[in-house]
Amino acid sequence: MANNSPIDFQQFRQRVIEQLHQDIEYLFAHVDLSFSLQQACHYAMTGKGKKVRPLLVASSFATVSSQPLASLFPLPIFVRRAMLAVELIHVYSLVHDDLPCMDDDELRRGRATCHIVFDEATALLVGDALQSLAFEVLTTNIIPDTDSTSNLLVNQTVITASQPLSAQLVTTLAPRARRMVTGQMQDLEGEQQELTYPQLKAIHKDKTGALIEASVLMGAVCASSTEEQSQLLLDFAQKIGLAFQVQDDILDVVADTEQLGKPSGSDEKLDKSTYVKLMGVEQAKAYASELFAQAKQDLFDLYKIQQVSSVTTTVQKNYGYNSGYLEQLADRLWERER
Ligand code: IPE
Ligand code: IPE
Ligand code: MG
Ligand code: MG
Ligand code: MG
Repeated sequence: MANNSPIDFQQFRQRVIEQLHQDIEYLFAHVDLSFSLQQACHYAMTGKGKKVRPLLVASSFATVSSQPLASLFPLPIFVRRAMLAVELIHVYSLVHDDLPCMDDDELRRGRATCHIVFDEATALLVGDALQSLAFEVLTTNIIPDTDSTSNLLVNQTVITASQPLSAQLVTTLAPRARRMVTGQMQDLEGEQQELTYPQLKAIHKDKTGALIEASVLMGAVCASSTEEQSQLLLDFAQKIGLAFQVQDDILDVVADTEQLGKPSGSDEKLDKSTYVKLMGVEQAKAYASELFAQAKQDLFDLYKIQQVSSVTTTVQKNYGYNSGYLEQLADRLWERER
């Protein structure tokens, strides 16, 4: 029984991030890219990112999975692939977002942006490469299972044995990666405009919310969630996804560049349509807070159908399921300062 006690959120977070870092290193050590592109991709994928989306994948998996928490690690290979895939799409979106033709920012994750260190054409191609790699990671054994004896064929398009799960993950991620792009287009078109609340909400739900939805849903897919579980997780993800961008808008105004690791005041510089512009900092904070509260209600409803309340730690300890990690991650996001 002692063996079965779940690790706390801090340890969980650390182990998930460690695994992600290992997989990033493995990927760029093995994938066939031209040297300069490999260097630039690796640069973009490292640095002080918060790893929110991979953590959402793993936490969602841990929340739905009936696997005892004590045996959560090593994480199943498809959880690892989903974590890496969504981070690849996210970083591609950041590299492009920073380009002079978009937000024109020179700092990201506490260091110079990709197009500053390398050049614009390279940064453009980094985004392209990271995007296709995300789908390669999900559909091939380019990231091999450590237990697998068939760690061969790196750089070839090998169909994995678990094709149905990989197909479900692609089906979850691909349309949401596309929605991120749509959101980015509308974000650009929204510069110097007076948008309505519904218009701004739609943009935020796409440009940022979509990948957060994909993360939570991919974790659930890896745990073979029921339709009811997936729906509640989607409701949860949509709220924290919107709240995450509302917070990003707030931080752009209230935090300094050093704290953010990216230029403070970037939105004002471009007269972006943001929640702060529409309702001011205080109201935007209240809105984000409300969204987090509602999102937690979705989680409690999920716990109810799983017959586990977030406070029944005895159940958690005895049976080792329902970690509460998703709830704790939501709390961390609410409290975030960068
Ligand atoms: C920044 O995302 C872009 C948005 C969608 C708001 P993050 O705040 O998750 O960036 P990193 O990954 O920690 O750098
Ligand atoms: C970007 O929103 C969302 C993406 C899809 C990258 P922002 O432009 O506000 O993100 P930051 O503030 O540059 O990280
Ligand atoms: Mg932007
Ligand atoms: Mg930006
Ligand atoms: Mg921003």
